[in-house]
Amino acid sequence: MASRYPASWLDELRSRSDIVQIVSGYVALTKKGRNYWGLCPFHGEKTASFSVDGEHQLYYCFGCKAGGDVIHFIMDMERLSFPEAVEQLADRAHMTLPEMEKDEDYERRRTQRERLLNANREAARFYHETLFTPAGEAALAYLRRRGLSDGVIRKFGLGASPDSWSSLSDRLLEKGWKLDELVLAGLTVKKKNEDGRERYFDMFRNRAMFPIINTHGNVIAFGGRTLEKREPKYLNTSDTPVFNKRQGVYAANLLRQQRHLERVILVEGYMDVVSLTQYGVEGVCATLGTALTNEQARLLHRFAPQVYLGYDGDSAGQHAILRGLEILEQEGVPARVLDFPDGLDPDEFIRRDGIEGFRKLPAISPAAYRLRRLKEQLDLSGQDGKLSYARAASGIIAAVDPVEREVHLKDLSLATGFTRETLLEQMNLSAARQPGGKAPAAQPARLHAVPAEPGSDDLKAQELLLSLFASGQIPKEMIDEKDFEDDELKSLYRELLAGASPASLPDLAPDDATRSRFTRVLLSPSAGDTDQMITMANDCLNRIRKTRLEKRFEELSRMLDTAPDDTLPALLKEAQEISDKLKKLK
Ligand code: CTP
Ligand code: MN
Repeated sequence: MASRYPASWLDELRSRSDIVQIVSGYVALTKKGRNYWGLCPFHGEKTASFSVDGEHQLYYCFGCKAGGDVIHFIMDMERLSFPEAVEQLADRAHMTLPEMEKDEDYERRRTQRERLLNANREAARFYHETLFTPAGEAALAYLRRRGLSDGVIRKFGLGASPDSWSSLSDRLLEKGWKLDELVLAGLTVKKKNEDGRERYFDMFRNRAMFPIINTHGNVIAFGGRTLEKREPKYLNTSDTPVFNKRQGVYAANLLRQQRHLERVILVEGYMDVVSLTQYGVEGVCATLGTALTNEQARLLHRFAPQVYLGYDGDSAGQHAILRGLEILEQEGVPARVLDFPDGLDPDEFIRRDGIEGFRKLPAISPAAYRLRRLKEQLDLSGQDGKLSYARAASGIIAAVDPVEREVHLKDLSLATGFTRETLLEQMNLSAARQPGGKAPAAQPARLHAVPAEPGSDDLKAQELLLSLFASGQIPKEMIDEKDFEDDELKSLYRELLAGASPASLPDLAPDDATRSRFTRVLLSPSAGDTDQMITMANDCLNRIRKTRLEKRFEELSRMLDTAPDDTLPALLKEAQEISDKLKKLK
């Protein structure tokens, strides 16, 4: 986050607001090793994975990956904006706010963002008020027909866009917004007539309105459902300077208020979220008209340790579940599937079977779900089908823990007629084909992608090296910028070299996921004294430089195959040099 406070003043604020002390006001911390540990306040958990690093003045949760400096902690804890959190901490530390640095570009963007957010807020208010006037009669009747109570309508701030061309735009123009701002916010559409004259009209007309509100309580976009059978059924705000549909989720504001959730339920539709919430289900949210993205998976993991996929029971929904499971696995988020019967969506289901029916729905494991889908796709009456099923299913089962594996093995044996021993052998084969040993060979591939390796040894070495460097105990001459091949690490290294404090760096990240990574790699290393740290740094450097040489060596070998004759001597010479250097390193 760009900030308008001088960096040195912020550093002063951080050092006067000791993070261990501040966090202790919210979380019971115990010292273990160099760090402090407690139960994470940002997601429900029973064993402590939330750590506070007093040396580098950072907090990081190894469970939900929330992390940052003391200012960010207050922002997240108290749901404050950056300036608000700074003000609160400054007040506590008896520091006066500095004269603002004038950064015109930042000021301009900040004011624009604020103006767009305010326009959205005003629009949400307008839609909500309209719902209870004659212009909103049809929308209100529609929402009531769908079983929504006034309470839940208020809770989600649902509204109505009138059946008129420009009532919202006119109102906002009157209140001082410029037409271009409204267009930028996605509230107004501007078109040229045939005669070349410009006209404008409201983006949303005659729809039931669902405001999309982020964790900070800002209205960032809208979804509008048609009241008739008009296409599109849902009209959503396109991306704007304050809205990226791939990053947020619907009802993020409510998730944030529900602390200690054991799981979040991700559904497909806005209506499903509202309806389940009305029936008393907690922690429900939806993506914003797109399939689940990696960013969203990480966001969800910050609210709860597990994600349940509660997609529609139709075939599109079923397909989306397999894809969603892959994304969640890539991000290391434990997942389960709520399989709605009879092709129903969550809203239809809970209206039919009530909260009791919903509570009884089993949350099945990803493997169980994949096996079920596989079985449906194959014809198990013949030998061929049984064989394909046994092979593919073994691959799926090989990836799960031994207890769950046992259950599936029994079923699989029954369904295919193969003995448990044969199936086990097949599983070992599947597992052996994978370099790590434990992951299954993907067969068929898309059914069960395994989580990507968290990082190669080379990348890990770069990360550790950065952490060691951040401690300030490594002589500057030891490290060269080129040792960081990873661009993010390189930029952090440059900042540290220029004298930035580790705690000031997470805020440079453009998004939550990057901030989380920045924090993780900036945590103080677990090594003891300076000598040990230097030894570790040397190990890292050896590994990094060795990898670099090996890569170049491979490249050269490939080039040698096709290189023109006159370049051969130079290539061979370089290869020989590298080979000598590598021998020395070993
Ligand atoms: N969606 C969308 N654009 C559409 C249709 C759907 O963006 N033209 C998104 C919306 O976010 C919607 C979700 O996909 O909430 C689920 O769509 P669908 O299953 O068709 O709608 P339902 O949630 O069942 O909506 P309703 O119950 O209102 O018919
Ligand atoms: Mn529906």
